[in-house]
Amino acid sequence: MTSDAVPVVGIVGAGQLARMMIQAAIPLGIGVRVLAEHADDSAALVCPNVDIGFPNNARHLREFAAKCDVVTLDHELVYLDALAEIEAAGGVVRPNAGTLRYAKDKFYQRTEFKRAGLPVPAFAELLNFPAIEEFAAQHGWPIVVKSQQGGYDGRGVWILDDAEEARDFFDATAGTGVDLMLEQYVRIERELAVLVARRPGGETVTYPVVETVQRDGICHEVIAPAPVSTEIAERARALGEQIAGLTGAVGIIATELFVVAGADGDELWINEVATRPHNSGHFSIDGCQTSQFANHLRAVLDWPLGPTDLVAPFVVMANLLGEDRESLVPRIPRALDVPGGVHPHLYGKEVRPGRKIGHVTALGDDAEETRARAVHAAAVLTGRAT
Ligand SMILES: Nc1ncnc2c1ncn2[C@@H]1O[C@H](COP(=O)(O)OP(=O)(O)OP(=O)(O)O)[C@@H](O)[C@H]1O
Ligand SMILES: [Mg+2]
Repeated sequence: MTSDAVPVVGIVGAGQLARMMIQAAIPLGIGVRVLAEHADDSAALVCPNVDIGFPNNARHLREFAAKCDVVTLDHELVYLDALAEIEAAGGVVRPNAGTLRYAKDKFYQRTEFKRAGLPVPAFAELLNFPAIEEFAAQHGWPIVVKSQQGGYDGRGVWILDDAEEARDFFDATAGTGVDLMLEQYVRIERELAVLVARRPGGETVTYPVVETVQRDGICHEVIAPAPVSTEIAERARALGEQIAGLTGAVGIIATELFVVAGADGDELWINEVATRPHNSGHFSIDGCQTSQFANHLRAVLDWPLGPTDLVAPFVVMANLLGEDRESLVPRIPRALDVPGGVHPHLYGKEVRPGRKIGHVTALGDDAEETRARAVHAAAVLTGRAT
């Protein structure tokens, strides 16, 4: 990339994360291109340069990369060997295939983190039924089963209460070709997330640690700053930064953590990482000096990173999860009228029950009021409140 040419960042995948990267690219004056599976994908709707193609197709990836100065990603379900080849041939892929493997493959991630001495729940590969019984005998019921690849929003996570349920589950999934792993069921006190933006040379900035409020395996709310002690927040931050270095991340890397009651006080265990902007960082668009999307772009371009400080004492994000199939549009003016104000972000996705279709962020001086305002506006937008 020559110094006076406008750099083009190519994004593989065109979901809401790519859409919000485009929003952040505008003030930086950079070019963006997306590789979308469908012309009506969330980001394809707002991008002038759309290539239609598949993230598991080596030729599509190669042809796409040839039109971009830097390739980055909206998700990790990508043909990693093809990305490695693009890099070997002189392309710039950030994060690269080596980093993406952590996010794509939960079993690899757990194995590597354990090897590095990081705190993770007990886990094992689910190879046969006796493996389940053996694991449960060691760690007790319930146990958690996860697909090693491809899960999101709790799809790909199952909790099995006893041997009978495990038998039914095993019989139903045997022969489907999905690689599964077993995990100790963790008695979670709270869930936290920490986002780090990292440049290729290793320079990082870290966002305030947040609490993620999950129900049925889906994140409903994100609370910044997390209501935890400074000591826990510092430990979370240190883990996030350590993982950013360990994985060689470039761009945003999000680390999801469990707070667990231990014999000597609260412990932090790593749930999983995402090597890209993440739902737990959407609060930063309105709530921080530099959003996660802006810092992701700066990092993949190897440009200076921006400050991550909160711009209000409390920032709360509530996800919009589809309740029905009705358009949200008629409800937008009512949400905008919520006293105190909120910032809606709609993804342009067709509404389906349970689908993440947007989020809303509230800023305020009072933790409870700010949270109530965000949650109420989300309820208005999804039709659960008027
Ligand atoms: N070992 C565990 N013990 C107890 N609860 C768990 C465990 N693993 C996951 N969970 C719960 O399920 C949620 C989803 O799990 P996980 O983050 O692994 O799945 P995912 O579908 O990849 O999520 P994401 O929405 O972040 O993509 C967690 O946030 C947590 O609430
Ligand atoms: Mg998760």
